[in-house]
Amino acid sequence: MQIGTTLTRFLLDEERHHHSATGEFTRLMSDLTTAIRAISSAVNRAGILEVRGQAGSTNTAGEAQQKLDVTANDLVLETMDPLGHLAGMASEELEIPYALAAGSPRGKYLLVFDPLDGSSNIDVNISVGTIFSVLEAPNPGSDPAPEDFLQSGSRQVAAGYAVYGSSTMLVYTTGVGVHAFTLDPYLGEFLLADQDLQIPQETNEYAINASNRRFWEPAIQRYIHDCEQGKDGPLGEDYNMRWVGSMVADFHRILTRGGVFLYPRDLKKPDDPGKLRLLYEANPMAFLAEQAGGACTDGHSRMLDRKPESLHQKVPVVIGSRSEVERVGQYYREYGGA
Ligand code: AHG
Ligand code: MN
Ligand code: MN
Repeated sequence: MQIGTTLTRFLLDEERHHHSATGEFTRLMSDLTTAIRAISSAVNRAGILEVRGQAGSTNTAGEAQQKLDVTANDLVLETMDPLGHLAGMASEELEIPYALAAGSPRGKYLLVFDPLDGSSNIDVNISVGTIFSVLEAPNPGSDPAPEDFLQSGSRQVAAGYAVYGSSTMLVYTTGVGVHAFTLDPYLGEFLLADQDLQIPQETNEYAINASNRRFWEPAIQRYIHDCEQGKDGPLGEDYNMRWVGSMVADFHRILTRGGVFLYPRDLKKPDDPGKLRLLYEANPMAFLAEQAGGACTDGHSRMLDRKPESLHQKVPVVIGSRSEVERVGQYYREYGGA
């Protein structure tokens, strides 16, 4: 029996192709997967560990924190803090960037993450995930300023997610394709499942929370209306619809079999430009989408070109198969919307 290619071996092989690589990034990724394996274990045993339910606190967006949001956040912070790869971290669950412990060495990268994505799905045993983005610290070796995190997505060094589904998978990119690994729970190792993933371009599947329909902008109202008309409508084909409620799980499906995911701006909360967060949801997924031949926009412009204005900035998101993302852009141009 052969074990297959472990993530560590794959990372080391990638490192050898980069002449300037010091091995620092490989160690960062490898250590990050320790936190991810711990989160996976906590998610798998949530009912046994009594970590289901609400924590009784709220996060930066005023949303109720689940106990596992807090657990996952702490696992990443505590795992990565002492290791010296990072100069700083920022998380959905923290108002301001995390300050590394006084005795921890400061490294050359910044980590921005959503410790548990789709956390409202935990209590009902539906897939959740962790999303991460790695940036270069402008001042390696010293504590970052808050604005150091406000880098456009095109400057990401790496991005990826773990999806805690029927199996736990890790999907990441360093800008040289998108690779997927499955956690072998018996070996405790991530093993290569798919190399150079490409989002299928032929698609007829969309993902949107249709309960928000009455709050949508005209372009989205019209696009979804036309999808629903199927073969009899202007798009000329029958569409299917899926909505998991965890962006990680919805995106993982799109990466595998194509489609488009939309979380547009809506008038439910008129002051919010969207629901999803630019730095630790939209940007990492946009990097993965582009590396897999897909696209991600805010409806109008390329996500990775946006200059972040604040750590927890929200944005509208249209992501998936390139042709369908472009089609949604045409609807915005034709029918309007922010
Ligand atoms: P999080 O659990 O990190 O707050 O993210 C939830 C996000 C995203 O994963 C998902 O696509 C979306 O919120 C679901 O929104 P609805 O509850 O409006 O369906
Ligand atoms: Mn999230
Ligand atoms: Mn979250």
